Parts: sequence; C-alpha cells; structure tokens
Amino acid sequence: MLRLVIFFAILTSAGAPASAAGPTDGYVGSNVCKACHPDVWLNFYKNPHFKSIASGKEAPERTGCEGCHGPAKGHVEARGGSKTIPRAFSLMTPRRQLDTCLACHSKDMSRGEIRRSTHTESEVVCSTCHSIHKPRTPKFLLAKTQNDLCYGCHNAVKAQFSMPFKHRVNEGFMSCTDCHNPHGTSSPSWRMGARPRLTSTGHDGEQSCVRCHTDKRGPFAFEHAALRTDGCETCHSPHGSTNPRLLRRPTVITLCLECHNGAGTFGRSGTGIQTQSSTHNMADPRYQNCTVCHLRIHGSNADPRFFR
Ligand code: HEC
Ligand code: HEC
Ligand code: HEC
Ligand code: HEC
Ligand code: HEC
Ligand code: HEC
Ligand code: HEC
Ligand code: HEC
Ligand code: HEC
Ligand code: HEC
Repeated sequence: MLRLVIFFAILTSAGAPASAAGPTDGYVGSNVCKACHPDVWLNFYKNPHFKSIASGKEAPERTGCEGCHGPAKGHVEARGGSKTIPRAFSLMTPRRQLDTCLACHSKDMSRGEIRRSTHTESEVVCSTCHSIHKPRTPKFLLAKTQNDLCYGCHNAVKAQFSMPFKHRVNEGFMSCTDCHNPHGTSSPSWRMGARPRLTSTGHDGEQSCVRCHTDKRGPFAFEHAALRTDGCETCHSPHGSTNPRLLRRPTVITLCLECHNGAGTFGRSGTGIQTQSSTHNMADPRYQNCTVCHLRIHGSNADPRFFR
C-alpha cells in the first residue's frame, strides 16, 4: 500500500519532465521506476548509463532505464510484470539482447566484428559477461572479475597459465584482454586471416604480442618467414609452456625440425637442412642448439641466416 502511495507521488511530481516528451510515445522517464525498483535505482547513480539521466539531454529512447528496457508506460500501468516491459532481458533471446546493447554500442564494437565472433556464434553475448545492475567490477561493468569470468568457461586455459613458464596472468600482471578481444577481431594479417582465435589485432592487423615485444615487430631486412605468415603462436605457446622461452616444443631442435626436416621446401636449396650434412651434423651435440648460431631467430637486418 505504501509502495502505491509513493508510486503515485512520483508519477505526479518527478514524472513531469518525462511526460513533456509526449504522452503518446510511451516513455515515462526513469524516476517513475524508483518506487517499485528501489534496489536497482539506488545503485544506478554509479553506473555509466546514469549519465543520460544526469544530463537530461538525450532523447527518451536513449535515456536511463528505458534506454535499455524500452518505453515503460504499459508496464507501469499494469503495475509491473515481466511481460509488460518491452525489453525484459530474462525473456529475450541472446541475439535480441545483443541488438539491444548494440543500438548504442555498435560504434565501439564495429571494428571488432562482434556479430561474427566465436562468442556470438556460441550465444555468449553482452549480458553473459557484463552485469548492468550487479557488476563485480565498477570499471567495464563485468559480471565477475576478468579471470573468474574467462576461466569460468575456459577451465583448460587456467591449467596452461599454471605451467612452469607463462605470462603472469594469474599473478595479476596482465590479463586475457591484453591479447584477446572478447568482442571479436578483424581479420589478422597472419595465417592468411584464418582462425584468429579472438586475438586482438593492432594497426594493420598486426599481432597483439608486438605491442609489448616491440623488438619483434620488424620489418627486418631478413625476416624469418614463419613470423609473419604463421604468427608467433606457431613457435610459442603464449599461455604457458615447459620451455623457458614459451616454445611449443620442449627443446629448440624439435621445434625447428618440424619445418626444417629436409622434407619440405624450406631453405635456399629448396630442401631445407638434412639431419646429416656438411653444414649440420645432428649427431654432433654442438649442432643441436640451433639458436646458438642462428641467434636472431625472429629476423635480422644483417644476415639472411640470422647469425647476427
Ligand atoms: C544498459 C542497459 C540497462 C539499463 C540502462 C537499465 N537496465 Fe535494467 N537490466 C538490464 C539487463 C541487461 C538486465 C538483466 C540482468 C543483468 O544482466 O544484470 C536488467 C535487469 C533489470 C531488472 C530485473 C531484476 C534484476 O535486477 O536483474 C529490473 C527490475 C531492471 N533491470 C530495472 C531497471 C531500472 C529501474 C533501470 C533504471 C534505473 C534499469 N533497469 C536500467 C539492462 C539495463
Ligand atoms: C508499480 C510498480 C512498478 C513500476 C512503477 C515499475 N515496475 Fe518494473 N516491475 C514491477 C514488478 C512487480 C515486476 C515483476 C517482478 C518479478 O516478476 O519479479 C517488474 C519487473 C521489471 C523488469 C524485469 C523484467 C524481467 O526481466 O523479468 C524490468 C526490466 C522492469 N520492471 C523495468 C522497469 C522500469 C524501467 C520501470 C520504470 C520506467 C519500471 N520497471 C517501473 C513493478 C514496477
Ligand atoms: C541508450 C544507449 C545505450 C544502451 C542501449 C546501452 N549502453 Fe552501454 N553505455 C552507453 C553510454 C552512453 C555509456 C557511457 C560511455 C561513457 O562513459 O562515456 C555506456 C557505457 C557502457 C559500459 C562501460 C564502459 C566503461 O568504460 O566502463 C559498458 C560495459 C556498457 N555500456 C555495456 C552495455 C551493455 C552490456 C548494454 C546492453 C545490456 C548496453 N551497454 C546498452 C550507452 C548505452
Ligand atoms: C566474453 C565476454 C564478453 C562479451 C560477450 C561482451 N563483453 Fe564487453 N567486455 C568484456 C571484457 C572482459 C571487457 C574489459 C576489456 C578490457 O579489460 O580492456 C569488456 C569491455 C567492454 C566495454 C568497454 C571497453 C570497450 O571495449 O569499449 C564496453 C562498452 C563493452 N564491453 C560492451 C559490450 C557489449 C555492448 C557487448 C555485447 C554487444 C559486450 N560488451 C559483450 C567482456 C565481454
Ligand atoms: C600473451 C597473450 C595471451 C594471453 C595473455 C592470453 N591468451 Fe589466449 N591465446 C593467445 C593466442 C596467441 C592464442 C592462439 C593460439 C593458437 O591458435 O595456437 C590463444 C588461444 C586461446 C584460446 C583458444 C585455444 C585454446 O587453447 O583453447 C582460448 C579459449 C584462450 N586463448 C583463452 C584465454 C584466456 C581465458 C585468457 C586469460 C586467462 C587468455 N587466453 C590469455 C594469446 C594469449
Ligand atoms: C559463458 C561462457 C564464456 C565466457 C564467460 C567466455 N567465453 Fe570464450 N568462449 C566460449 C565458447 C562457448 C567459445 C567457443 C567454443 C570454444 O572454442 O570453446 C569460446 C571461445 C573463445 C576463444 C577462442 C575463439 C576461437 O575463435 O577459437 C577465445 C580466445 C576466448 N573464448 C576467450 C575468452 C576470454 C578472454 C574470455 C573472458 C573475457 C571469455 N572467453 C569468456 C565461452 C565463454
Ligand atoms: C601486455 C604485454 C605483453 C603482451 C601483449 C605479450 N607479452 Fe610476452 N611477455 C610480457 C612480459 C612482461 C614477459 C616477461 C615474463 C613475465 O615476467 O611475465 C613476457 C614474456 C614472454 C616470453 C618469454 C620471454 C623470455 O624472456 O624468456 C615469450 C616467448 C613471449 N612473452 C611471447 C609472447 C607472445 C608470442 C605474445 C603474443 C601471443 C606475447 N608475448 C604477448 C609481456 C607481454
Ligand atoms: C620460427 C619460430 C618462432 C617464431 C615464429 C617466433 N619466435 Fe619467438 N622465439 C623463438 C625461439 C626459438 C626463441 C628462443 C631463442 C633462444 O634460444 O634463446 C624465441 C624467443 C622469444 C622471446 C624471448 C627471447 C627474446 O629474444 O626476447 C620472445 C619475447 C619472443 N620469442 C617473442 C616472439 C614474438 C612476439 C613472436 C611473433 C612476432 C615470435 N616470438 C615468433 C622462435 C620463434
Ligand atoms: C613453422 C615453420 C618453421 C619453423 C618452426 C622454423 N622455421 Fe625457419 N623458416 C621457415 C620458413 C618458411 C623459412 C623461409 C624459407 C625460404 O625462404 O625458402 C625459414 C627460413 C629459415 C632460415 C633462413 C634460411 C635461408 O634459406 O636463408 C633459417 C636459418 C631458419 N629458418 C632457421 C630456423 C631455426 C633455427 C628454427 C628453430 C628455432 C626454425 N627455423 C623454425 C619456417 C620455419
Ligand atoms: C654451429 C652453427 C650452426 C648450428 C648450431 C646450426 N646451424 Fe644452421 N646453418 C649454419 C650455417 C653456417 C649455415 C649456412 C650453410 C650454407 O651456407 O650452406 C646454416 C644454414 C641453415 C639453414 C639454411 C639452409 C640452406 O639450405 O641454406 C637452415 C634452415 C638452418 N641452418 C637451420 C638450422 C637448424 C634447424 C638448426 C638446429 C637443428 C641449425 N641450423 C643449427 C650453422 C649452424
């Protein structure tokens, strides 16, 4: 009963500016919601979406509660109910939730090609990762802290970041989003644009790695071709590895011989190196640590065989 009294008090006082927008379009303004949704309302001033209410400069369909939930006149007149509010997230398909958020966020997201991302295709959409009303992190309104959020669905990755050598994500020095864009990615410049694994790309579709490892960016006069065509991950396991240099294989030689095994067409000779040859005697331990001689393994500006 008390609720109803407050409700009418609000409708007649604070509701006034909203009705100025025109009674027929069905928007009643956010103040009206306060009486029946006090818990949501009380936290909302901290929300970045409150700005539209505070400024009062946006059109009603882009302001406050109704910016997401739609015109609420019918909902208020019916005194509530999920079916009466045009956009009740509990009743919406993932695609419709996505569309609702993209009504305003498509500009930030377009570069990420969110509609074609693996997450969207798997029906992991905005409100799976973000919580508007009960965020765990005020910044970015995440439903959980980032590690908990991502590990919640990618449990296997957690084990990878617990390996002897790894990027220090679990320790809090970096996060998944230093390398990945959960919203999707534009075509990368490597691997012929295939299977980008949501790895974020910088200028010209370059790999996220070179933002930090700038010395690997090149261009080099003599570049190790694998770098640009296959990406850093052909040789490295960025999540974690038993090799101190995060190599995909336990030792350098096993890695190199995957491509340079004489069977392919690598090397200027067209055949790559042989396991027994005048220049490389694999029986001699001296030759097994390839990067002792091929020192600038990522590329060199001085030597085509990466000796210096
Ligand atoms: C940016 C979009 C957005 C805005 C703005 C917004 N909501 Fe929501 N609302 C949601 C989403 C998404 C959910 C689904 C639950 C979730 O993800 O937090 C939701 C859920 C709700 C619920 C269901 C109960 C609950 O807590 O889950 C109520 C009630 C509600 N909103 C009321 C409001 C009111 C009142 C306002 C204005 C003060 C408002 N909303 C502003 C997006 C929004
Ligand atoms: C007269 C009271 C009343 C007013 C005013 C009111 N609501 Fe509600 N609202 C309710 C009730 C009751 C429910 C149903 C709660 C439930 O089912 O748990 C509800 C449910 C909702 C839901 C949840 C839908 C879902 O996902 O299930 C949203 C969103 C919502 N209201 C938004 C709003 C917004 C936005 C306003 C202001 C424009 C508003 N409400 C004003 C009473 C009200
Ligand atoms: C009516 C337009 C509108 C809609 C619809 C909308 N947003 Fe927003 N959103 C904004 C604005 C404006 C900001 C604040 C940007 C700023 O702070 O300058 C914002 C901020 C955010 C932020 C915080 C960004 C940060 O830097 O912390 C997140 C996360 C977000 N929105 C997610 C969502 C989600 C999820 C939905 C759908 C449930 C949604 N938004 C729907 C307009 C909207
Ligand atoms: C798989 C989880 C996930 C999904 C799905 C997701 N987000 Fe995010 N979003 C994040 C994370 C994590 C961040 C924080 C990024 C960072 O740390 O730099 C973020 C950041 C944001 C930001 C602020 C920074 C920016 O990139 O602009 C906005 C706005 C945003 N998300 C909106 C949305 C909207 C709208 C949708 C749906 C169309 C969506 N997100 C879907 C996880 C997700
Ligand atoms: C240092 C950069 C980096 C960080 C940090 C990182 N990733 Fe990755 N991740 C990659 C790269 C590069 C690939 C592609 C590997 C490939 O295709 O061989 C990848 C692949 C993946 C894949 C798909 C392949 C698989 O192993 O299942 C998932 C899922 C994934 N990452 C999740 C995460 C999560 C969750 C986090 C944070 C806890 C994270 N990543 C942090 C670089 C990173
Ligand atoms: C609600 C569950 C869920 C959450 C939360 C989630 N993901 Fe995913 N993610 C998936 C599903 C489902 C797929 C697609 C199937 C697969 O590859 O496992 C996927 C795929 C991926 C891939 C591989 C993409 C590809 O093209 O192969 C990466 C990378 C990834 N997620 C990173 C993240 C990161 C980073 C976060 C946290 C910001 C996150 N995910 C949060 C469910 C989730
Ligand atoms: C946000 C910055 C950042 C990004 C992005 C990043 N790294 Fe790293 N990386 C580091 C730091 C810092 C270290 C030093 C190890 C530590 O203490 O965490 C490191 C260590 C490494 C090492 C081992 C280096 C050594 O000295 O033994 C390799 C290999 C590596 N990263 C490769 C990659 C690859 C491949 C990618 C892209 C998939 C990548 N990194 C993305 C910051 C980054
Ligand atoms: C052809 C295989 C290969 C590719 C592709 C590759 N790396 Fe490496 N990388 C190596 C090897 C082998 C080592 C270890 C060198 C040694 O023995 O000290 C290494 C070492 C590193 C190190 C630690 C030592 C140092 O030189 O700083 C970093 C960081 C690194 N790589 C980053 C990257 C990044 C970033 C990319 C992509 C731009 C990349 N790597 C691509 C093979 C590769
Ligand atoms: C993913 C495949 C791949 C891996 C792994 C790989 N390489 Fe290469 N490497 C190539 C390709 C492709 C070329 C370019 C061959 C060409 O131009 O004919 C190349 C070129 C070279 C060259 C220059 C050859 C020349 O003809 O001048 C050397 C030296 C070399 N690699 C050494 C190594 C060493 C040492 C390792 C191990 C640390 C390694 N590579 C790992 C693919 C790979
Ligand atoms: C002791 C120094 C040394 C070590 C260790 C070494 N190489 Fe070489 N590598 C050379 C020299 C010298 C050449 C140039 C040979 C020539 O011009 O015929 C060469 C050339 C190459 C070439 C180019 C082949 C071609 O046909 O021109 C490849 C590929 C290569 N090495 C890969 C490897 C791999 C893989 C390993 C580790 C298994 C390795 N090297 C270990 C000294 C070394």
